[in-house]
Amino acid sequence: MVAVLYLLLITTSLKMSIHKRIQAKRITTHVLQAMKNNGEKIAMLTAYDYSLARIVDSAGIDVILVGDSASNVMAGHETTLPITLNQMIYHATSVVKAVKRALVVVDLPFGSYQGDSKSALKASIRIMKESGGHAVKLEGGREVKDSIVRILKAGVPVMGHLGLTPQSIYKFGTYTVRAKEEAEAKRLLEDAKMLEEIGCFAIVLEKIPAVLAKKVAETVNIPIIGIGAGAHVDGQVLVLHDMLGITKDFKPRFLRRYLNLFDDIKGAVNGYIEDVKTVDFPNNKEQY
Ligand code: KIV
Repeated sequence: MVAVLYLLLITTSLKMSIHKRIQAKRITTHVLQAMKNNGEKIAMLTAYDYSLARIVDSAGIDVILVGDSASNVMAGHETTLPITLNQMIYHATSVVKAVKRALVVVDLPFGSYQGDSKSALKASIRIMKESGGHAVKLEGGREVKDSIVRILKAGVPVMGHLGLTPQSIYKFGTYTVRAKEEAEAKRLLEDAKMLEEIGCFAIVLEKIPAVLAKKVAETVNIPIIGIGAGAHVDGQVLVLHDMLGITKDFKPRFLRRYLNLFDDIKGAVNGYIEDVKTVDFPNNKEQY
């Protein structure tokens, strides 16, 4: 009897969660807002090239971020600072070609929006025109307000990014958790409210205490996407190469690895080398 009741409970809650999912052929900023309003979590991942973006999109991801983390995982730089606007456009163009459903958000690279709002708008327009991306993301709060307002006025959707903002790594000095102190937490909450007020469609919160992230998600009405910000936000984002285990040495507490591709790919390459050296490959069926 208990088992039957338990089964009934599971089936009902499963049906409820399926019922809750919004059906959309294409994810837009409006769909993301509807997801928040309906309590459906938003799943977001990075991608930087055609082949992986195609897989990620066909799996049903809601948002693909062409992140400036490409600077680390694609180009091998230590920080996100060196990647250029042209390189971001190159990555975004490849991703957009692959995507049929997800919303594609493209990071504005370091130096393209902090100086003045005119340059910020120019960089955003280049991204939208040349790559076909659907929105831009930039890091910071009040200090980049003018740039955000100008970009939004031109009709380009903007995603904010608060908390640990890797483009400011040399100011922070470390990649440790941000906004643990009251003053910084208060400033972050104020910035999140400001980003909502001026018209951002969503905000990424990176590496901040879960309690603060929850407060932000409850206070502002736009979707809050967390990375290292706990479960009580409206969605999650991870760097694709980290969650697939392509990167090996990066092991923050918030990262869940779904595959171990570094070792799997290395094993496959080892096998290939062995087969070539021993003339096992190609065999009779693998030649003309
Ligand atoms: O560039 C990036 O990948 C990001 C995510 C970590 C949110 O900004």
